[in-house]
Amino acid sequence: MEFIIRKAKIDDVNRIHDLTNSMASEGLMLPRSKYKIISMLLNFYVVADENDYVVGAAALTPLWTDMAEIMSLSLDKDYHKQGLGRKLVEYIIQEARAIHFPKLIALTYQVEFFKKMGFTITDKDQFPRKLWRECLECPKLERCDETAMYLDL
Ligand SMILES: CC(C)(COP(=O)(O)OP(=O)(O)OC[C@H]1O[C@@H](n2cnc3c(N)ncnc32)[C@H](O)[C@@H]1OP(=O)(O)O)[C@@H](O)C(=O)NCCC(=O)NCCS
Repeated sequence: MEFIIRKAKIDDVNRIHDLTNSMASEGLMLPRSKYKIISMLLNFYVVADENDYVVGAAALTPLWTDMAEIMSLSLDKDYHKQGLGRKLVEYIIQEARAIHFPKLIALTYQVEFFKKMGFTITDKDQFPRKLWRECLECPKLERCDETAMYLDL
């Protein structure tokens, strides 16, 4: 089976919502409302098979002129460990480079995966603009247990 990476379409909203929230229900990532996914839809990329069935998604979100964040990365469990997470993240890295972001960041529980993608662990305090935005809406604000990581582009 061949897989492609493409920009998300409005038809993908329910599938992206299912993917992120099934992973979130296992505590692997933060949940996203359907409204949030729709409002971020232009930031989303998906992995789709030959029948255009979406098996993974992630968003490239600008934080400021000096950095963007890779958010809501999720691959269907049936498709893990086939190189698709790498394919999606590498695609997003290329997109971020093409837009001339100097840095890409991630807040994640998947430290080993992101290390393999070239990211380095850092302190969350390095990302004040992230803290001003998403983190203020997060129920885990005061007890965030995700690891901050970055990649110089
Ligand atoms: C993290 C995730 C995206 C990885 O996707 P994947 O398609 O299984 O990863 P890949 O097959 O592309 O793996 C790329 C490399 O990372 C490694 N890797 C993948 N998941 C890993 C993990 N959980 N721990 C350690 N290494 C891991 C692979 O072994 C592979 O290494 P290699 O290149 O040396 O062979 C996927 O497991 C997932 O969706 N998890 C649940 C949601 C989540 O945690 N998202 C992150 C939110 S920031």
